[in-house]
Amino acid sequence: MAYHSRGGNTRRLAEAIEAGAAEQGVQTHLVDVEQITDEDWGILARSDGIFFGSPTHIGGPSASFVAFAEQTSRFQPSAAWADKLAAGFTTSAAMEGGKLGALQFILALATQHGMIWVGQALRAGWNTSKGSSADLNRLGYRLGSVAQCNVDEKPTDMEESDLLTAAEHGRRMARMAQKLNGEAPVEEGAR
Ligand SMILES: Cc1cc2nc3c(=O)[nH]c(=O)nc-3n(C[C@H](O)[C@H](O)[C@H](O)COP(=O)(O)O)c2cc1C
Repeated sequence: MAYHSRGGNTRRLAEAIEAGAAEQGVQTHLVDVEQITDEDWGILARSDGIFFGSPTHIGGPSASFVAFAEQTSRFQPSAAWADKLAAGFTTSAAMEGGKLGALQFILALATQHGMIWVGQALRAGWNTSKGSSADLNRLGYRLGSVAQCNVDEKPTDMEESDLLTAAEHGRRMARMAQKLNGEAPVEEGAR
């Protein structure tokens, strides 16, 4: 999990994803890209998959996330991240607010490295007359995990459905990693 978060919302989304993946029985690490160390680079290099996360800033990723992305260009010649799994997440204040731009940047980063993209498999919610903001995938994103966060609230006030949706994405990524490694995924009820 390599993320940037200025105010804590994107970090909380990262933690929700991490919790989902951990439930599936995989080891996870949170790497704050503003404080990234050589040890962190080593962890990312040894990981089967990397979730990349950034707040949406002006319809794209934050400057700190872009700085991290640029640093990864040193791996391209050695194809060090090729064939790893990759996924993306972002948070923004507005319902859409340019999240697509941030996720597309992350998708491009992953494909530049030859990584395999793992999207959100949950169907879109909140799209019927009986739907509500409590629906899973209320924002209807399949490209990655997203959360809408009101500017006058704190990370602890984030919408539960966004966190649960992100956790399912984490579980999916973990299951994919286990399949690629020929490991049996942890079954429901065996946790
Ligand atoms: C410089 C800056 C630019 C932003 N641009 C957008 C934007 O384009 N669209 C939007 O909906 N929210 C925008 N926001 C709000 C953030 O996306 C939102 O508060 C996000 O959840 C912050 O995540 P963080 O707490 O992890 O830093 C912006 C915030 C900042 C500080």
